[in-house]
Amino acid sequence: MVSQSPLIDRFGRKVTYLRVSVTDRCDLRCVYCMAEDMTFLPKRDLLTLEELDRVCSAFVARGVTRLRLTGGEPLVRKGVMTLVKSLGRHLTSGALKELTLTTNGNLLKTFADALADCGVRRINVSLDTLDPDRFRAVTRWGDISKVLNGIRAAQRAGIRIKLNAVALKGVNEDEIPEMIRFAHGEGMDFTLIETMPMGDVEGDRTDHYLPLSLVRERLAQRFTLQDSDYRTGGPARYVTVAETGGRLGFITPLSHNFCESCNRVRLTCTGTLYLCLGQEDAADLRAPLRASEGDEALHAAIDGAIARKPRGHDFVIDRAQNRPALARHMNVTGG
Ligand code: GTP
Ligand code: 5AD
Ligand code: SF4
Repeated sequence: MVSQSPLIDRFGRKVTYLRVSVTDRCDLRCVYCMAEDMTFLPKRDLLTLEELDRVCSAFVARGVTRLRLTGGEPLVRKGVMTLVKSLGRHLTSGALKELTLTTNGNLLKTFADALADCGVRRINVSLDTLDPDRFRAVTRWGDISKVLNGIRAAQRAGIRIKLNAVALKGVNEDEIPEMIRFAHGEGMDFTLIETMPMGDVEGDRTDHYLPLSLVRERLAQRFTLQDSDYRTGGPARYVTVAETGGRLGFITPLSHNFCESCNRVRLTCTGTLYLCLGQEDAADLRAPLRASEGDEALHAAIDGAIARKPRGHDFVIDRAQNRPALARHMNVTGG
């Protein structure tokens, strides 16, 4: 008999949110995320789209109500819309509350209508700057007009957008007020993220670390920030900006740890389940998945993994050591 019990870890946290990295590849190379010269996984190591569907559906059967596809860049995975479409059946059945995506927006124009047709109602788009030259520098070769066109296409298709920006000292800190006005003016939420020390990238991360407590203090001199109870199920804590009427989120893994309320685990495109973004603890789901046609072994592996979910991350931005806290790059799990 396949276990259908909810997923509860040893700290009593219920896992209701699965993030699925459908590919480690990306069509950009954001400087804080990847090295320029990255080695990607050979295609033969990937779970097929059918296998990804099977694992996601096993999690849905165990009480996961939110699924987010990430990457690398999820829209570069060949055939990704087949997966989105088939996962859409869990929205129709009512088992899933939300099926969504975190994307760099580069290919969004092409996929916006199809995503909306599959039941995607909300998308997070990563955008760190509005300046075309800076965008090119941060992403190493990106063209911001493609992203902006993608955002417009998604909005026209009826999809709500949240913009995510990593706050980078000396890179985009002077632009944050303008980005808030832009996002809110276009009816989008806007969330700032602290840079996390994951994976070797060229350059010194401590140079760019900008605590959001400081950003918030500065913003409070220009805007009226009103605390808000709004939650999306993620780690962002929101305020409403009185002057714009829009929502501003802060994701502060370093300056304020939110692990005690963590509700999520992460599946990679090779079937590895990471139990925390900031720890190496993981479980292989590919072998049990492939061991039989039934899902018993898969569910047993999921149970074993959830029982080992760590209390939280140990991120520190360490100037003395200047080494990443984790060897794994962000594109393995997509944040
Ligand atoms: P919603 O709240 O559903 O909008 O999603 P989200 O903010 O969790 O998802 P999104 O993909 O926009 O996440 C933005 C970034 O927040 C990720 O890329 C990570 O950098 C960070 N983040 C998300 N979840 C966690 C987490 O569990 N731990 C840590 N440390 N960071 C996280
Ligand atoms: N620290 C914080 N956020 C990061 N992202 C990528 N690398 C890092 C990092 N080192 C963000 C991207 C995107 C999301 C998937 O993760 O900007 O919003
Ligand atoms: Fe690609 Fe996102 Fe990483 Fe940028 S942050 S290189 S868009 S995966």
